[in-house]
Amino acid sequence: MEKSIGFEKIRTAIFISGTGSNFKNLIKFSKRKKSPIKIILVISNNVAAKGLRYASKNKIKKKIFKFKNKKGDEKLILKYLNRNKIKLICLAGFMKILSKNFLRKYNGPILNIHPSLLPKYKGLNTHERVLRNKDKFSGCSVHFVNSKLDSGKIIKQKKVKILKNDTPKTLANRILKAEHVLYPQAINKIFTNH
Ligand code: GRF
Repeated sequence: MEKSIGFEKIRTAIFISGTGSNFKNLIKFSKRKKSPIKIILVISNNVAAKGLRYASKNKIKKKIFKFKNKKGDEKLILKYLNRNKIKLICLAGFMKILSKNFLRKYNGPILNIHPSLLPKYKGLNTHERVLRNKDKFSGCSVHFVNSKLDSGKIIKQKKVKILKNDTPKTLANRILKAEHVLYPQAINKIFTNH
């Protein structure tokens, strides 16, 4: 209980696989007085995920589950989440697909951020596909996770204009910046009235 601010923050777990810039950004967001979330732990399937360094710096517990035995690892994760009273999961660049069984057994919202304007461009290599199709806009989406890849209910989206000389890399960088604005906004949209 965060007595000083007068409301209980939502105990949150972040799942990452790589750089963790969204994780870093969510940590910053969680530290704001009015932020509805408190990040308790981070889970990664990749021991070398760069983002894990933000855990130690911020006194956030970290745990690696390599998903070699997906069923077994998911069972352990569920126990770990339960033990830590986790009420919200935010996937942030997590490259494993959680099973239907996991989604059924975990009883709290699971959010994901995806670098496209869903329902367009589900899955990988979104920026390459957007550029190949000569779209005028791309962007990012935060959505609830359901059993179909990148298909759960959309919470919030942010458009990013495609520039003439964009490459997948330049576009990815601009969209990542938009993601850092969007993820906190989407969390606020669900859990607060601002
Ligand atoms: C982001 O573009 C996110 O939308 C996608 O993976 C990337 C993760 O970036 N799912 P980071 O690890 O948060 O920097």
